[in-house]
Amino acid sequence: MTVSDIRKAFLHFFREKGHAILPSASLIPENDPTTLFTGSGMQPMVPYLLGQTHPAGDRLADAQKCFRAQDIDEIGDNRHTTFFEMLGNWSLGSYFKNEQIKWMFDFLTETIGLDPNRLYVTVFRGNDAIGIPRDTDSVALWQGVFGSVGMEAKDVDFAERDGMQGGRIFYYDEQKNWWSRSGTPDKMPVGEPGGPDTEMFWDFGLELTLHEDSPYRDEPCHVNCDCGRFMEIGNNVFMEYQKTKNGFEKLAQKNVDFGGGLERLAAAKQNDPDVFHTDVFKPIIQLLEQLSGVTYKDQSRSFRIIADHIRAATFIIGDPRGVTPSNVGQGYLVRRLLRRAIREGRRLGIMDPFTHQVAEVVIGEFGSAYSELEERFGSIVSELKKEEEKFGKTLEKGIKELEKMLKAGSITGEQAFILFSTYGFPLELTEEIVKEKGMSVDHAVFEAEFRKHQDVSRTASAGIFKGGLADHSIETTRLHTATHLLHRALKNVLGEHVEQRGSNITPERLRFDFSHPNKVTPQQIKQVEDIINEVIKQDVPVRFEEMTVEEAKQRGAIGLFEEKYGEKIKVYFIGNDTSDFSKEICGGPHVTHTGELGLFKIQKEEAVSAGIRRIKATLDKGE
Ligand code: ALA
Repeated sequence: MTVSDIRKAFLHFFREKGHAILPSASLIPENDPTTLFTGSGMQPMVPYLLGQTHPAGDRLADAQKCFRAQDIDEIGDNRHTTFFEMLGNWSLGSYFKNEQIKWMFDFLTETIGLDPNRLYVTVFRGNDAIGIPRDTDSVALWQGVFGSVGMEAKDVDFAERDGMQGGRIFYYDEQKNWWSRSGTPDKMPVGEPGGPDTEMFWDFGLELTLHEDSPYRDEPCHVNCDCGRFMEIGNNVFMEYQKTKNGFEKLAQKNVDFGGGLERLAAAKQNDPDVFHTDVFKPIIQLLEQLSGVTYKDQSRSFRIIADHIRAATFIIGDPRGVTPSNVGQGYLVRRLLRRAIREGRRLGIMDPFTHQVAEVVIGEFGSAYSELEERFGSIVSELKKEEEKFGKTLEKGIKELEKMLKAGSITGEQAFILFSTYGFPLELTEEIVKEKGMSVDHAVFEAEFRKHQDVSRTASAGIFKGGLADHSIETTRLHTATHLLHRALKNVLGEHVEQRGSNITPERLRFDFSHPNKVTPQQIKQVEDIINEVIKQDVPVRFEEMTVEEAKQRGAIGLFEEKYGEKIKVYFIGNDTSDFSKEICGGPHVTHTGELGLFKIQKEEAVSAGIRRIKATLDKGE
């Protein structure tokens, strides 16, 4: 069975059981400030798990694109990937443990054809302190389904201490058998739904843990140990609780939230613990072998990093709400993925641009299931080429510089910052290179340098991980000045109620979120563009003055007054001496004359949420 066969079989299985099959939601969550990426199938379902009616019904299933940035450093082993597809099914108060456990057993053993003798399950041990009982219902149900194929399924407690003891069902605490978006019960904020879960594991075989090099060989082996013998292939969360100020209360409905990694299921089916051996990775690995002249077997860690990272970047750039490499937010993660992959490629001896070639193979493999990749083929390829070219240049220079620094014996936080600001070396990359030499970088110093640099240039809320300016390139600076013009022009055309709600600027475009109840009409867009282009044509000066918040208010400046900038703040004025078109509180940087901007064009206007609109705009220098 291929990965695609398993995906189809899963969706078919649940369609037959009355589930609506949903398309994958975007990898970039909409209006969810808590997370940069969709990391589990349940994230888009939260409102419905909490009781809102889902238009497609109370039985849902899908294959969801997921990205877990926190796993980036684990990539290189045989089972972790940052991007993965999660197969999921949900009951929104429709069915509960009975059906879910029976169906899962049938799906795994009959549909996929996994040997039940190699399957093990875990259940929640119970915790009186939070008032959640031991999940004896699930134990009885698992014993029933294993019993139906003539297997005795003994339940065992404390396998982590005493080993497997011939058990089939194992109790664990909330570290292992509780699930919520924020983790264990103590970490959940008030209002968050969660619950105990029962997980399913595949046994790849005893020999994996008896290997004489295994660091686990003297420890009791159990399904949740990391020796590599067992792999979790699915998780049934019984989401029936919500955290409240007074502890856990039952939700109005009993929900099921199942999630299973598609490639892990394929690995179990092939009985090969390396997910990079599954059919979707095969052509990628082959291409890399061709390009590098070395084999996967000899350089598996580098191959895995490259294959995983470029696949992830392809999906993120190719997402309907896709982002391109930059120094902020999701774009920063894309940059980090690509730069790491490129560096591993160099390590394997691949000196020419190759990431776009890998992406082409990824699109070939996944394009039929995710048509957005095919639709964005051209832009994915060109983004990768662009980023690789850019990075290639700085890499050469930066590595020379870093080597010079290392010759002196160590590298300081200040030097790491210089590598970041001048050569575009992400801190993580510097750290990796330095770590290989048994040294480390002082994070605190790096961060202090970063903040100092921010203070100097006063880039308002810009930061590596925050919104704001991607960098201080001239393109970004021009778009920053254009953002001020846009803010003012929107107020002029739509009314003074317009207020900035967010801003994000990359060298390619500006993005501006603002309050306004209706769609901005094409006529209004044209008016806004005309006003801005007129100010640009007049080539008026851009200058700033420092003053107190009070004074700024008196002089009619707009902007975020509540931000703490210190004693005095800067107000940027755009206009000639007699009348300023725009007055706005801001840290800069800006261009000195509007004539530097070029032709302003609104590329897109859309809703972000109720009462908030978003505009994306570009400047065309007409070169
Ligand atoms: N939401 C659960 C998980 O991600 C199924 O593991």
